[in-house]
Amino acid sequence: VSLADDIRACRACPLGGLLTHAVTGEVPAGAAIMLVAEAPGETEDREGRPLIGPAGKRLDLALGEVGIDRASVYADNLIHCRPPRNDLRPYPGVSQTCGDLWLDRTIEMVGPRVIVALGRTAMSRWFGEVRSVYDTSELQRVLPSGLVIVGAPHPSAILHGTAWVEQKLVQSLRRAKEVA
Ligand code: URA
Repeated sequence: VSLADDIRACRACPLGGLLTHAVTGEVPAGAAIMLVAEAPGETEDREGRPLIGPAGKRLDLALGEVGIDRASVYADNLIHCRPPRNDLRPYPGVSQTCGDLWLDRTIEMVGPRVIVALGRTAMSRWFGEVRSVYDTSELQRVLPSGLVIVGAPHPSAILHGTAWVEQKLVQSLRRAKEVA
């Protein structure tokens, strides 16, 4: 039984029963860079693949600008099941539950050198409360294991934001590439 099967069977939080697909990462074994976004959206829930909808397309552009091959990174979400209407507010404990149950295991399995935490939800796992995308520029942590965590704006913020947000995302991805 694979990690993906285990996650699909998970009922540890109320989202477990509500989805079409639990969305897991796609592994190039030993990927040096791991991306962690928030939670699957409509497209991801339907297709069972992470970051392939509008936000994912913006991410792909940013990766391309930095010269990171999407197929070489492990893309995933902190939360693996789509919250109805993409609204996490009714499910306050889900980030913690899903991260503790699945993300830590996934990190162990993939063994990345660097994780890019995309957006506030993912960043909260390593940086505590982050108020806005304007806080992300200097966010970087090295865990005792040596794993480097880099904060970045969520690619969906580019859809509603400014060129500045896109530059911040590119900057964080560039840093991840240097570390990896
Ligand atoms: N937004 C996310 O945070 N993750 C996805 O997979 C898609 C949209």
